[in-house]
Amino acid sequence: MRVLVVGSGGREHALCWKLKSSPLLTKLWCAPGNAGIADAAECVAIGAENVDELLAFAQANAVDLVVVGPEAPLVLGLADKCRAAGIKVFGPSAAAAELEGSKGFMKDVAAKAGIPTAWYGRFTDMDKAKAFIRAKGAPIVVKTDGLAAGKGVVVAMTLDEALGAVDMMMGDKVFGAAGDELVIEEFLDGEECSFFALCDGKTALPLVAAQDYKRVGDGDTGPNTGGMGAYSPAPVVTDSIQAEIMERSILPLVKTMAEMGKPYTGVLFAGIMVTKDGPKLLEYNVRFGDPECQVLMARLESDLLPVLAAGAEGRLAGVELTWSDDVALVVVMAARGYPGSYEKNTVIGGLDGAARVEGVTVLHAGTGTKDGQVVATGGRVLGITARGKTVAEARERAYKAVDALDWPGGFCRRDIAWRALARN
Ligand code: AMP
Ligand code: GLY
Repeated sequence: MRVLVVGSGGREHALCWKLKSSPLLTKLWCAPGNAGIADAAECVAIGAENVDELLAFAQANAVDLVVVGPEAPLVLGLADKCRAAGIKVFGPSAAAAELEGSKGFMKDVAAKAGIPTAWYGRFTDMDKAKAFIRAKGAPIVVKTDGLAAGKGVVVAMTLDEALGAVDMMMGDKVFGAAGDELVIEEFLDGEECSFFALCDGKTALPLVAAQDYKRVGDGDTGPNTGGMGAYSPAPVVTDSIQAEIMERSILPLVKTMAEMGKPYTGVLFAGIMVTKDGPKLLEYNVRFGDPECQVLMARLESDLLPVLAAGAEGRLAGVELTWSDDVALVVVMAARGYPGSYEKNTVIGGLDGAARVEGVTVLHAGTGTKDGQVVATGGRVLGITARGKTVAEARERAYKAVDALDWPGGFCRRDIAWRALARN
């Protein structure tokens, strides 16, 4: 099979790394890719959001399967265009990608499907939003309907904070049009996890759960990021909790989307809060998590390629996957200053030494090459991914590889997986 992966981050490097090992693969491209992905795939200089050029490339090169990493090309209709052109694609239509693009739409679909989630209200009027908050009381959560680079959520512990969030999002339009509508919802207390399933429009195949670390600093301090580390399995997701998530939060969604004429094909990422009353849905994303994908691919033993092809062709029923019992853990190395402004083009040394550490794979997220050297080009730059028999072993290996790097321009959190270790 001739495969095109779309994207340029650590998630896409993980997908390419895994697809590369498939005996069914005859050619692998990645658009636009990065310096690390270039070891696994031929990188093509087309941006992930340039959907018309991506389609033209797929047609000109007889691509058999397009695998879309990030949400932006999905929201722009890349999957629809591929399907219309007769090219198999693993990713949802623009209409189904609204699950991530609009929180209000997502909450309405979840309500229709009877999925356990926070109660909510949708508001386009500031006074009505504030009256709802006063009536419900704090703690309460205020969200912009549209995408706001991961910043459009305020978990308000007090009434004043919640009312202030309405002023900020809707009054001051800090997130632009994303704040034209707000979703105000119940605060859910518990332990959070990321759960993934592959969907083919009709049914869903569970992957495994992971936990990620969103804050930039040790001890979960500082601003939110795209994710500074992750590990899998997530101990909070027992077999019975996994079964409950599938039965109550994944399969009903797939069924309801099909009934709505918006069948869901692709990976479904459910943000779940495991509360004392069981797992409850926080949100859906229409893609793999980054860096969760890195640890999922490190644990997946089955060949990924025929499974993604089966997803694209509506043939997932009966497919089974094999997973390693090992723990996989990823430590993200970011450029100093991230998630604020950071320096670009700093030289990264010691990559070979890091990759030699037992059980370690260095996945690239934001790298390029300059004068024959690997340089940092993004905020999140590397994902040091390690497998081990235990969390402690995987973590020791990952940090040993971190220490083998020679990159003064980078930093990482030193406490990835502390929650899992604290449990043991
Ligand atoms: P989101 O952008 O929807 O993923 O929200 C960002 C983060 O806010 C989530 O990962 C949760 O940690 C938190 N959050 C979102 N919704 C709720 C909620 N209803 N209750 C508690 N925490 C929430
Ligand atoms: N790591 C969380 C995300 O990809 O949204």
